[in-house]
Amino acid sequence: MILVTGATGQFGSKAIEHLLKKRVKPSEISVLVRDVAKSKGLKKQGLQIKEGDYTDLSSMVKAFQGVDKLLLVSSNNREAIENRTQHHKNAITAAKESGVKHVVYTSFVRKPGFQDSAIADFQNSHLETEIFLKESGMSYTILQNGIYAEMIPAFLGNKFADTKTILFPAGTGKASWTLREELAEAAAYILISEGHINQTYTLTNTESVSFKSIAQTISSVLGETIEYKSPDVNDFENILEQAGIPGMYVAMFKMWATALEQQTMDKVDVTLSTFLDRKPTPVSDFLTKNMVASYRSDKVKQ
Ligand SMILES: NC(=O)c1ccc[n+]([C@@H]2O[C@H](COP(=O)([O-])OP(=O)(O)OC[C@H]3O[C@@H](n4cnc5c(N)ncnc54)[C@H](OP(=O)(O)O)[C@@H]3O)[C@@H](O)[C@H]2O)c1
Repeated sequence: MILVTGATGQFGSKAIEHLLKKRVKPSEISVLVRDVAKSKGLKKQGLQIKEGDYTDLSSMVKAFQGVDKLLLVSSNNREAIENRTQHHKNAITAAKESGVKHVVYTSFVRKPGFQDSAIADFQNSHLETEIFLKESGMSYTILQNGIYAEMIPAFLGNKFADTKTILFPAGTGKASWTLREELAEAAAYILISEGHINQTYTLTNTESVSFKSIAQTISSVLGETIEYKSPDVNDFENILEQAGIPGMYVAMFKMWATALEQQTMDKVDVTLSTFLDRKPTPVSDFLTKNMVASYRSDKVKQ
């Protein structure tokens, strides 16, 4: 029995889709959800729904009974990073108590010197989880996932089409942007194939791309010049605040932009290609298919 946590979230739901595509029987997949009302679709597909919360150890001990392999999707708690670490430790403790044999954990790409990066707190939370998992004695597979390409549209904002300018303080920093969908596909592959016991994988794209290059892609698809400007990070903060963006989001944009400028997530690797049996989708293809298509449909509606 495979159990997928975060099953009503974006990564978990895609991992389930790929398990089913890879012909795992629905009756062999359990899912952990904290809100059963959100799991009707999953239940209809014949999956076993287990109610549980990362904050509630006993709910997970109950949910994980009879599970051989656990896909532990990392927590998205926004109140405090320490909460995420504790959620992961709770899930790992519960897995051990329930007799789970193998835990596959969605970590985050890491480079030497990450302690000095703007996202060091996130990185440290993942590192602490990885150490806790390794020390649990269960078999593990750690997926050091690249930064989601799906985050790019949020960083671009919705004004660039009018202003013809992308404003984001990432400088010349590149990142090996990776589709969440393809990371979920790789996680499904790892769950159903052999040879991943006690392995740590860097799962990223085979190319790294800067915001200047992103602007060039968008320009060429739209047929008009979209310029990229990297303002001073404090000026950027003022611009967002004046636009009425809530403080939590302003802090998040600043943090990610600075980490991108520091090249914290610039780490290309071929392992994901091996698991997908094809090259991961380049950022230019992702932008062309998704973002630019939606920009065009907005234009048509106007
Ligand atoms: N690689 C990257 O670039 C990147 C970027 C952002 C985040 N991440 C990490 O990757 C994870 C998966 O990404 P995603 O896009 O799938 O995020 P997501 O859509 O926000 O999904 C997170 C899942 O975690 C579940 N969850 C949160 N707190 C929980 C709790 N206390 N108990 C049980 N379940 C809980 C959520 O449940 P509900 O459905 O009930 O809300 C949701 O299903 C994130 O949580 C985050 O740690 C990675």
